[in-house]
Amino acid sequence: MKAYFILFSALHIFIIVTTTMGAYDPCSSQPDDSDLTLIPIYAKCSPFDPHPPATDSWVNTVLTMASKDPQRLTYLSSLVGRKSSAPIASGQAFNIGNYVVRARLGTPAQLMFMVLDTSSDEAWVPCSGCTGCSTTTTTFSPRDSSSFGSLYCSAPQCSQVRGLSCPATGSAPCSFNHSYAGSSFSAKLVQDSLKLAYDVIPHFSFGCIDSISGGPGLVPSQGLLGLGRGPMSLLSQSGSLYSGVFSYCLPSFKSYYFSGSLKLGPKGQPRRIRTTPLLRNPRRPSLYYVNLTGVSVGRVLVPVRSELLGFNPYTGSGTIIDSGTVITRFVEPVYSAIREEFRRQVEGPFSSIGAFDTCFVKRYETLAPIITLHFTGLDLKLPFENSLLHSSSGSLACLAMAAAPNNVNYVLNVIANLQQQNLRILFDTVKNKIGIARELCN
Ligand SMILES: *[C@@H]1O[C@H](CO)[C@@H](O)[C@H](O)[C@H]1NC(C)=O
Ligand SMILES: *[C@@H]1O[C@H](CO)[C@@H](O)[C@H](O)[C@H]1NC(C)=O
Repeated sequence: MKAYFILFSALHIFIIVTTTMGAYDPCSSQPDDSDLTLIPIYAKCSPFDPHPPATDSWVNTVLTMASKDPQRLTYLSSLVGRKSSAPIASGQAFNIGNYVVRARLGTPAQLMFMVLDTSSDEAWVPCSGCTGCSTTTTTFSPRDSSSFGSLYCSAPQCSQVRGLSCPATGSAPCSFNHSYAGSSFSAKLVQDSLKLAYDVIPHFSFGCIDSISGGPGLVPSQGLLGLGRGPMSLLSQSGSLYSGVFSYCLPSFKSYYFSGSLKLGPKGQPRRIRTTPLLRNPRRPSLYYVNLTGVSVGRVLVPVRSELLGFNPYTGSGTIIDSGTVITRFVEPVYSAIREEFRRQVEGPFSSIGAFDTCFVKRYETLAPIITLHFTGLDLKLPFENSLLHSSSGSLACLAMAAAPNNVNYVLNVIANLQQQNLRILFDTVKNKIGIARELCN
């Protein structure tokens, strides 16, 4: 009886919500300032152009989104390479994320939709007058902000930036260059107040891009907010404000709206959540490593050598959770083992679509096995939405994971966006744990 009542109430609320939403264009609805909502960059209501790449099939849409993954994997793995003590070449690669959050910079505040990136430290935005930036994009105008400040090479923050191009002597502005695939940009490190929801971080240091070469296509057009663990990241720069804690819930790729959320600080975080230790790789302390100990397909624990999954602080190998890669990638032997076991349990024949090599005709009696990621102290059973992609007609399903590209020549597995949809992922950099819980945030 009680259950019926709850169900009824839930339906009731649902009806009210849908009726209200039906009254006006949901894309025009703006959540209030207290909300750090997230939206997939390709979503229908995303402020970015072009909107979802128009393809006839959902699988192809995701493949388009994932087309930058190999470069990102190369970038991420370059961070943990054996030679990481060698100076990082100028033109350090940067990387693209897929979810954007509203941030306000300067006084009075200028709204920017910045990409969220857990594997970057520095934040940066295109600044007015930028040459080579997309002509349609919103840029940050330092001239219109009364709290704006420049930083010179002598500033302590300046030495923390990658790809620095400060002369050995003199007091030049703190400049740096980053590059990504065909594009590269040069920026100056500056300071201004950053407003996220109701929080203000005064004197926040970020890159102000003044030129992009090689085409703006790959550079997030309104900038990027780094949520890594390094000294230039939001967590470090906000001092005690967030106590080194944040979480996000990434909405489904199919979500249209700003419905995901970023929660900064310990307040409002789930109290009861299963956790796994957050590990730190001394070679690249910014990345969020977890100890992946095994992968199950259905009830079968896939046989893989533990050194292909587990954390090794000496080589930098292991598994990271990343907010900017689209499809989870495992090193080749691990992916093959998962795929073989999956194929054993699902009726073929199998075909390939782009990076997905295990697509099959979904008969209604075919129940695909559940994929479980085993972390130290936490098993994550992936919902079907996070392990299978369905073609638009619904007849074909693909295993939504892939092998890491061949040029990544040491072990790095990346748990990516598609596998994180509708989960709350909590990062606690003080107690060193990562929590994961189911949460619908579509
Ligand atoms: C950074 O880029 C600018 C503009 O493209 C160029 O003039 C400068 O030499 C570059 N600096 C480094 C260190 O590569
Ligand atoms: C990772 O898990 C393996 C297997 O359970 C364990 O032997 C190892 O100590 C763990 N490593 C860390 C750093 O927790």
